[in-house]
Amino acid sequence: MVFSLNSTPEILFGSGASEQTGAKVKELGCKKVLVVHGKHIKKSGIADKVIDTLVKEGIEIVRFEEVEPDPPDTIIEKGAAVAKEANVDGIIGIGGGSAQDTAKAINVLLGNAPPITRFLDKSLKMNPGKMLVLLPTTAGTGSEANNVAVITDTKNGVKGGVKGPACVPNLAIVDPDFTLDLLPRITAITGMDTLAHGVESMTTILAQPMAELLCEKVISLVVQNLPVAIKDGKNLEARTNLSFAAMIAGMSFDNTVLHLGHAIAHTMGAVYHIPHGIACSIALPEAIEYISDVLPEKIKIIGRAMGLDMEGKSGVEAGKEVADFVRQFSKDMGLPTMKELDLDKDLLKKVAELAMKDDCAMFIPKETNSEIILELLYRAYER
Ligand SMILES: [Fe+2]
Repeated sequence: MVFSLNSTPEILFGSGASEQTGAKVKELGCKKVLVVHGKHIKKSGIADKVIDTLVKEGIEIVRFEEVEPDPPDTIIEKGAAVAKEANVDGIIGIGGGSAQDTAKAINVLLGNAPPITRFLDKSLKMNPGKMLVLLPTTAGTGSEANNVAVITDTKNGVKGGVKGPACVPNLAIVDPDFTLDLLPRITAITGMDTLAHGVESMTTILAQPMAELLCEKVISLVVQNLPVAIKDGKNLEARTNLSFAAMIAGMSFDNTVLHLGHAIAHTMGAVYHIPHGIACSIALPEAIEYISDVLPEKIKIIGRAMGLDMEGKSGVEAGKEVADFVRQFSKDMGLPTMKELDLDKDLLKKVAELAMKDDCAMFIPKETNSEIILELLYRAYER
C-alpha cells in the first residue's frame, strides 16, 4: 500500500504554549501581522493575551475582528483587503474553526487573485500565501492540523472546502488553557465533531495505517474525556486530552478526508443552520450502521476504542451496537435529536440530494445514492 502523510510542519502543543507565540512568530521572520479573530475571543481576553506576546517581540499588529460563523466569502475578501493595504507578512488566526478557516482563506488571497470562491474548484492551482500561524481555542475542528478552509459562497448559499498550500499553517500553537472556559454545550458540540472525524477518517476509501493509529486514539480520548470536561470544564487533563484528540484527528483527515457523516453534516448545516457538531452527532451513528457490513473489522476496532465488547459480533451487529452507543453518548452529552430540534422533515430530501454533491461523498466506502441517504435521514428523524 502506498500512502502519503501530510501535516502542519510545526505544532507547539501544551498548557501555556501560547505564551511562546511572539517568539515563534518572530522566528518565522514576521514583522507585521494581521491578527484574525471574532468578537468572543476578544471578550474572553484570549486575543489580547496572544497579541501581548507579539508586541513584546516588536511585531507590528493589524487587527481584523470580523470573523463570523461559516466564514462568508465577503468577510474573507474584506480581511484580505485589510491585509494587503497594511502590507503584512503574516496572518495569525485565533479561535475555533471559523476564525482559523477565515485566516486560511485570507492567506489564500494574499498569494492569489480573488474571488475566494473560485478555489472551491479543487482543480485550480493555488500559490502559497504569507506566513500562517493558527491558535485553536476549541477542541473540535482540527483545522490547525489540516490544509482545508471551509467557507461559504454567499451568492449561491453553499459551503465548500478551499484546499491548498496557502491553507497549510506554517505553525500551529495548541494551548488547551484556551478551552478551560468553554461552556458545556460548546464542549459537547466540538467533542462530537472530533469523534466524527476519528470514526470517519479511519473508514474512508483513503484510510491508511497512520490514520487508523491516530483515530483509535481519538475515539478513546473523546469517549473518556468529553464527559469529564462537560462536568468539570476546568479539568486541565481532560481539556488537554480533548485538544490533543482534535489535533490528531485533524492530522488524520488531512490525509484521508471524511465521508458520509460529514457529507450529511455539512448539508444539514447549510439547510437547517444548526451547529456542525450537532449535525455530526445526528449523522455519525447512521453512517456507522450503513458501512458496518463492508468494514466489519474496522467497526469492531472503533467499538473497542469506545470500550465496547465486540467479541463474536458480525459487522452489522457491531455497527448497530457502536451506533447505539454514539446515540446514547450524544444524548448524555446533552445534544438534541432531529425531533427535539424541530427540524422540517420535508427538507430532508434536499439534504439527501445535496449530501451526494458534498466533497466528502466521494470517499464513502460503499456505493451510495441520495435515496439511500434519504432513508438514513428518515430513520435518524424517528429516533
Ligand atoms: Fe467536522
